[in-house]
Amino acid sequence: MRIAVLSETDPAEPRVAAVPETVKKYKALGAEVVVQAGAGLSAGVPDGEFEAAGATVAPDAAAAAGNADIVLRVRRPGADELPALKRGAIVVAIMDPYGHEAEVKAMAEAGVSAIAMELMPRITRAQVMDVLSSQANLAGYRAVIDGAAEYGRALPMMMTAAGTVSAARIFVMGAGVAGLQAIATARRLGAVVTATDVRPAAKEQVESLGAKFVAVEDDEFKQAETAGGYAKEMSAEYKKKQAELVASHIAKQDIVITTALIPGRPAPKLVSAAMVAAMRPGSVLVDLAVERGGNVEGAKPDEVVKTDNGVKIVGYANVPGRLAATSSSLYARNLYAFVETLVDKAAKTLAVKWDDELVKATCLTRDGAVVHPNFQPKAA
Ligand code: NAI
Repeated sequence: MRIAVLSETDPAEPRVAAVPETVKKYKALGAEVVVQAGAGLSAGVPDGEFEAAGATVAPDAAAAAGNADIVLRVRRPGADELPALKRGAIVVAIMDPYGHEAEVKAMAEAGVSAIAMELMPRITRAQVMDVLSSQANLAGYRAVIDGAAEYGRALPMMMTAAGTVSAARIFVMGAGVAGLQAIATARRLGAVVTATDVRPAAKEQVESLGAKFVAVEDDEFKQAETAGGYAKEMSAEYKKKQAELVASHIAKQDIVITTALIPGRPAPKLVSAAMVAAMRPGSVLVDLAVERGGNVEGAKPDEVVKTDNGVKIVGYANVPGRLAATSSSLYARNLYAFVETLVDKAAKTLAVKWDDELVKATCLTRDGAVVHPNFQPKAA
């Protein structure tokens, strides 16, 4: 059983899919681990640390992956890498398959079994493999750090000999995994924190972190949660009422952090240009949804936009990559937890249970075909 850890080819991706700790665990499973030279550098892991953990280092992707049964990556392999992979190899990554059907097909044609980690079901057994949660958690933390860095004032209330400084007001929009971590981080830094969400279950979670919940709590709100725990699209009428409430609230905030997403849809627009214009100069918005179209009007990927009224809109893409060492170690553990389920521990060989619910939910391609139900051609 041979496992390859490849370098990311996208220059905007500093994370790596394995760390020395998980290399040791793969070795203990009976695997041989090959790491592409330099794969961990931008996440703070030099080749020597992988070698010390028992991996061998190969000069390039082809040498690393040529014979590998399992290929680990952060993002989907590019078309140029596919010919180097062994037919039948299992490729585990964040595949970003929606809107990239041609790339999924190319993986099928290359004969690899592509596993999309982000499609992992959110059931108890798979929590340890949940890459969306592990990465969103860190993004929520980093959003507060990035917001604080752009904000020209202190966050906590400070009583000094020269006088008192009041605490910053931080408003978090969307209280899922990222939002809740943003609330906790902002509280630890001493800000006065409020938050909103369209899921009623979020209210209690927000309050348990010591923040105040701000939302229109009508009948629609009370029913607005889908079975999977995710948000659903709200009615135009609800959005209007919520926008009015939010508009007056936002005008009084120092930092606004937006994290709102709806699975499979563009991010909902929550903060209009008019709301931004109503904020005080020096205020900061951090849009964590910028890669999915953004929650804030005017947010641009990988830019800090300065508006005419002196407000900054921070729109970093790949926020987990801004703490690549930490995000890589959590991502690597998520992958290990999954890969471990593909191995017969007694025989120390690969023994994939293709009918396991975790494999069925995440496997995009197999034996030359696109097998995932969400990516089948529509029936005529
Ligand atoms: P997400 O990343 O899809 O969305 C982030 C947040 O934005 C969600 O809380 C969503 O309700 C909110 N949102 C959407 N539209 C909005 C709007 N118009 N205004 C305000 N907020 C809006 O969600 P995430 O963080 O992946 O988690 C969603 C839920 O799943 C949470 O309840 C979380 O606790 C739960 N979960 C369950 C897990 C499990 O294993 N059981 C693992 C991880 C999360």
